[in-house]
Amino acid sequence: MKPNIDVFINAIAFREDDVRDATVVVLDVLRACSTIQTALENGANGVIPVSDSEDPGKYTRLLDPEKILLCGEKNGRKVEGFHLGNSPFEYTKEIVNGKTLIFKTSSGTRAITKSTVAKKTIIGSFLNISAVVEMLLERNDPRTMLVCAGWRNRLSLEDLLCAGAITYQIYGRKLPEDATDGAKLAYGLYEKYRKNVDAPIKTSSHAKRLRDMGFEKDLEYCTRIDLYSSVPVMRDGLITLKHT
Ligand code: MLT
Repeated sequence: MKPNIDVFINAIAFREDDVRDATVVVLDVLRACSTIQTALENGANGVIPVSDSEDPGKYTRLLDPEKILLCGEKNGRKVEGFHLGNSPFEYTKEIVNGKTLIFKTSSGTRAITKSTVAKKTIIGSFLNISAVVEMLLERNDPRTMLVCAGWRNRLSLEDLLCAGAITYQIYGRKLPEDATDGAKLAYGLYEKYRKNVDAPIKTSSHAKRLRDMGFEKDLEYCTRIDLYSSVPVMRDGLITLKHT
């Protein structure tokens, strides 16, 4: 038996009830999930995701200011008054080691915070894709949901491709007949591009926006496959690393 996978195409395509008690993988390849992974790999104590409607100040007031960093983006750029933006290259060991990050992005943290009601909330990207697949196979949950963050209520090709890559690794060369429509869509997209996944990502809409803002090297980095073998997992609102 393989986990039964469904796919949501963006952060508004699901309600909390859809993911309640499920195993959820949130995917925001460009860039929130790739940045969270990088920050934790570089020694951050944990990441507190903040939804688009929440004031991150409520967390900063509760925690020791010496130990926290306020992070994230609006329209791709660092928010005024925040310590860091959303480029993984800002999250170096020197800067994040030992810190807790309060993290707010346009779509990525919106999808993550909506998924807090899940049984397990996992943060995925191309950077840790095989470790995510291993965790999903181990859990073998009949309710496994891949939540693509997308961008401003739209579909993002890079997130759907990542969902497809996970689906492909789990199901192998043949989709089960009763696969969900979401799994079929993601699988089919990945199957088409699997020999050269970074090409469609680099010409995707969000890649173009990031390139125009000067984030070309973020694209190179976020399309690297299996750079890490750990999985960020959320518990009680805090994301920390689980090594597989
Ligand atoms: C998001 O959460 O919408 C993205 O991570 C945006 C970005 O690339 O900065």
